[in-house]
Amino acid sequence: MFQRAKETAPGPRDGIPGPRGGILARHLTAYEADPAGFLDDCRRRYGDVFRFDTGVVVVTDPDLVADVLARTNRDSVPNANPLEGGRFPTAEQTQRWMDARQLAAPTFRSAALPARLPVVRDALAADLDALDGAWFDPAEACWEICVRALVPLYLPDESPALVDAVLGSFDAARGAAEAAVRVPSWMPSRLRRRVRDADQRVRDTIGPMLKTDTPAGTGTVLEHIRTQPDAVPDDVAMAAMGFTLLGAVGTMGAAWSWIVYHLAAHPEAADRIREEAAGAGGVTGDPARELPYTWAFAQEVLRVRPPAWLLGRDAVTAVTLGDVEVPAGTAVMFSPYLLHHDERWWTHDPRRFVPERWLGAGRPHAPGAYLPFASGPRGCVGAHLGLAVLALTAAHITARKHLAVPGLDAVTTHFGPSTLTPSGMRARLTPR
Ligand code: HEM
Repeated sequence: MFQRAKETAPGPRDGIPGPRGGILARHLTAYEADPAGFLDDCRRRYGDVFRFDTGVVVVTDPDLVADVLARTNRDSVPNANPLEGGRFPTAEQTQRWMDARQLAAPTFRSAALPARLPVVRDALAADLDALDGAWFDPAEACWEICVRALVPLYLPDESPALVDAVLGSFDAARGAAEAAVRVPSWMPSRLRRRVRDADQRVRDTIGPMLKTDTPAGTGTVLEHIRTQPDAVPDDVAMAAMGFTLLGAVGTMGAAWSWIVYHLAAHPEAADRIREEAAGAGGVTGDPARELPYTWAFAQEVLRVRPPAWLLGRDAVTAVTLGDVEVPAGTAVMFSPYLLHHDERWWTHDPRRFVPERWLGAGRPHAPGAYLPFASGPRGCVGAHLGLAVLALTAAHITARKHLAVPGLDAVTTHFGPSTLTPSGMRARLTPR
């Protein structure tokens, strides 16, 4: 049913389609004006694997993307951080991170969530209520709201210090990512220092928490760390507590701001969410089951505006992508945004916002074509939780608030270096 273009334009010498030296060199202005449209044009012109820049290849076929993602940690690593001098992690560093992931993951599994979700819902509700009557930019308010909603999954008690430290670290990393696309990687050493200082503050805040006893039965990440049969190395515990939380902020916050946008843009969907929330009489278990339409709405928002719109892996060995061999050291990029809007991979027109596409019996897309959370060993650890936060937000806003977003048509999409966010949006919530 889903059609692949088998033909790709031949490339120079090494067989990777696209002009020598890459496309970006001569078309930077066109790319910056419309990044996704530009990448889509390249894909039509050169096929599903093309050379984008020196050492950068873009892949737009879901099977090939799935393959690259499945082999992460083995043949490739997530893109090297320019703030760390672009160095690849060592095998030991990767193993430590995987241990930290595994330590935090049980708290986010869907089976564990119903017990902890009421605290997340209450934190979200309190923050939304605090906004009553004020004009706010959802793409700015979202970060703090999301951190405050997630902290109860890590700690049994409120911790304004941890919220502050995580926001500070996120802010420093975001500022550096925005600046790093404009200045050479050797230049922003002041930015690098700011990121390191902010990360240190997270460590200083979490350090004493890791030594404190935590009440049993809270199901928090902290409790999980403290009740391991064998002592957890400090750096693994620190990564599980601090850096999995930090990893959530950008994507979770951006997704949250798009939920607010789409509630305003689709009043008929907002009405249906309100009715569903009223019928459910409050969520007591898993919102995926109790609020199916709201869940579908959140899935559709992540389809049309995936926060991680452009992701990649750095090949540590030569890898074969279809009939193209890319050398070790190549950055292999893919775009969930492109996959989500490519008519070849969807049963119904992907240009339209249709939450109902998620309510049918089968999957509405080719395998691997829906990737808001990526996949494979380095895919998102908080996917179900993320959708739950979005569904609870949509349910609370529609049931309890009037939402005003004037000038919706003027809101644009910012294709940032790390996330996709709405730009130029003002919103106001008032009690219903
Ligand atoms: C709707 C909300 C969310 C979206 C759209 C999202 C998206 C993503 C994506 C696309 C990745 C993979 C990045 C890559 O492949 O390079 C990722 C990784 C990650 N996510 Fe999420 N995420 C969300 C919520 C969360 C939440 C709630 C948590 C935990 C509290 C979380 C924790 C993480 C962590 C720790 C990683 C890093 C995985 C690794 O490198 O091993 N995310 N997320």
